[in-house]
Amino acid sequence: MSVPKDVLKRIQKLREEINYHNYRYYVLDSPVISDEDYDALVHELKELEERYPETITPDSPTQRVGAPPSDKFRTVPHYVPMLSLDDAFSPEEVEEFDARIKKFLGTDQEIEYTLEPKMDGLAVELVYEKGVFVLGSTRGDGYTGEDVTNNLRTIPSIPLRLLSRHEKVPELLEARGEVYMEKMAFKRLNEEREKEGLPPFANPRNAAAGSLRQLDPKVTARRPLQIYLYGIGRVRGHSFETQWDILQTFKKWGLRVNPLIKKVTGIKKAIGYHEHLAEIRPKLDYEIDGMVIKVNDLALQERLGTKAKSPRWALAYKFEAAQSITRIKDIILSVGRTGAITPVAVMEPVRVGGVTVSRATLHNEDEIKRKDIRIGDWVIVRRAGDVIPEVVRPLKERRTGKEKPFVMPKFCPVCGSRLVKKPGEAIYRCPNPDCFPRLAKRIAHFVSKGAMDIEGLGPKVVEQLITAGIIRDVPDLYSIKKEDLLSLEGFAEKSAENLLTAIEKSKRTSLGRFLFALGIRHVGEVTAQMLARHFKTLDRIMNATREELEAIEGIGPEVAGSIAEWFSDDKNRTLIRRLLDAGIEIEGTEKNKELPLQGKSFVFTGSLNRFKREEAKKLVTALGGQVQSTVGKRTDFVVVGENPGSKLEKAKKLGVKTITEEEFLKLIGQG
Ligand code: IVH
Repeated sequence: MSVPKDVLKRIQKLREEINYHNYRYYVLDSPVISDEDYDALVHELKELEERYPETITPDSPTQRVGAPPSDKFRTVPHYVPMLSLDDAFSPEEVEEFDARIKKFLGTDQEIEYTLEPKMDGLAVELVYEKGVFVLGSTRGDGYTGEDVTNNLRTIPSIPLRLLSRHEKVPELLEARGEVYMEKMAFKRLNEEREKEGLPPFANPRNAAAGSLRQLDPKVTARRPLQIYLYGIGRVRGHSFETQWDILQTFKKWGLRVNPLIKKVTGIKKAIGYHEHLAEIRPKLDYEIDGMVIKVNDLALQERLGTKAKSPRWALAYKFEAAQSITRIKDIILSVGRTGAITPVAVMEPVRVGGVTVSRATLHNEDEIKRKDIRIGDWVIVRRAGDVIPEVVRPLKERRTGKEKPFVMPKFCPVCGSRLVKKPGEAIYRCPNPDCFPRLAKRIAHFVSKGAMDIEGLGPKVVEQLITAGIIRDVPDLYSIKKEDLLSLEGFAEKSAENLLTAIEKSKRTSLGRFLFALGIRHVGEVTAQMLARHFKTLDRIMNATREELEAIEGIGPEVAGSIAEWFSDDKNRTLIRRLLDAGIEIEGTEKNKELPLQGKSFVFTGSLNRFKREEAKKLVTALGGQVQSTVGKRTDFVVVGENPGSKLEKAKKLGVKTITEEEFLKLIGQG
């Protein structure tokens, strides 16, 4: 089987990238990306090389443990190599790890694991002879490190002599751990540096590395470094049974061990603890980039053994990077439902925040100028949670001079209309309401779930209908005939009938849905609901003045203006007339019902598909309910989205009712 060309190209590209970052990191001590991003690159390369082993060359960055030590310090051999860890980003990958172990050991029994936060610092080895600290070194390339004994001695939490009160000290102990700097100390250090006109460190990890590799220990001594120990090299005069035993014994000897370590049986519990760590991560005093899972029993570890660079008995279960680096190949324009023109960066695909992205909004021309983003630039992209990817900044130091500044076109890329920009606004708009993407998006919005909810009528079908000349605007939807549909690709008797039934069904709707469907600027689902509750009839809303609208709690001047303007436009009034003539019936708005969620309390956990968390909260409040941040006995419902956190467990423990997003939608009348 030959390797596809684009795969080869990608592999080449990844290797160049990784080598560059290795150089920045190991040689210059000045990395330009976060460790998470770097890990993501290596992870991708490893995966490709695993799939196409014939591409592996001896100089691939995956073929060595680290980079050579700098020649500033004396070198020290590691008698037991300081290996690295394989990493995983998803529960599935972690389950595969567990399955591999069981298979290797030939057992169905659940495995006992030790779980440890993966400290984001730098690995060191401390050598104790007869309990006395005699030598300390960095990891270096895993086989030889640098002698930083004198610098390590300045770290107050490193005992110069092991305690022997509770446990006899061994002849020889090589203890391994991570040196790091607390977030607060890092902040203070950078503030001081800035005052002195020195360049700040990019993150606590670099600050710790830079501090430990100071040639003058006096400088190190002034930097507040910390250590947590988690492993062993050579040991003489003591024997350990388990990883847990190592950690507990370390504590007795006065070696600092992370209090968040945990012992579990079964991989499911390990995955659960990872979620917990992800949740408390922002509150920790130090940075962690994942959780290390280790087979607890040292005899089993021995049987499992190690591969060239990493042990089979351990895994780094990483948190997803929220930022990555990629290149902008082009900047294109997208035409929105309201005609807004948005410049969009087309990028080399990159993994960020758990998904692969290749496009990111650049918002508007001013934003591109402000950030000085050019076509061909290397950029940092960010994606937090379910937020759309965003370009943070270009890496100007990587420019070659071939990058091209973006020039805003004067005409709509689709229909050729001259673009317009209102004074004081940053956004250009296409003024033509029938410009294809505008029309398509307007109709797709009208039929979407939170709006008229016509099942089976997605954006693709809408585009087909427009292209075939079957519909020219929203009201035409209600005169579509079966023959029309049958003339379209992908439609048969049954699917055509289903769609017609769905269209028919959508005619009976609520005022809130109808208002939302109209696609008035600034009128989202929540605002539409508020308007419906307040005015109760379409007529009253159509005739409301700007002042009356603004008087409603939660509606500001901009929104009020947009609504009043929309309804004052004759074209829009005609549109509404045509829709009502087509048979749309707005029901149940006259009755002043008690609010549907009156007196009910909600807690949200995990991410929702249909709403942003904030929107969902507003909706609950608008419907008379309450949103709480923690689960208590009196909570009525816990709404469980994707990747729920510990709140779910708490709800189960307290016997609080949990509902899915679908059930939540039904509850608020949008199911
Ligand atoms: S165990 C053979 N435990 O992660 C096992 N490593 O990719 C080797 N790290 O170089 C390491 N926290 O710098 C282990 N609790 C932990 C860790 C940890 C952070 C770092 C360490 C190591 C790298 C491995």
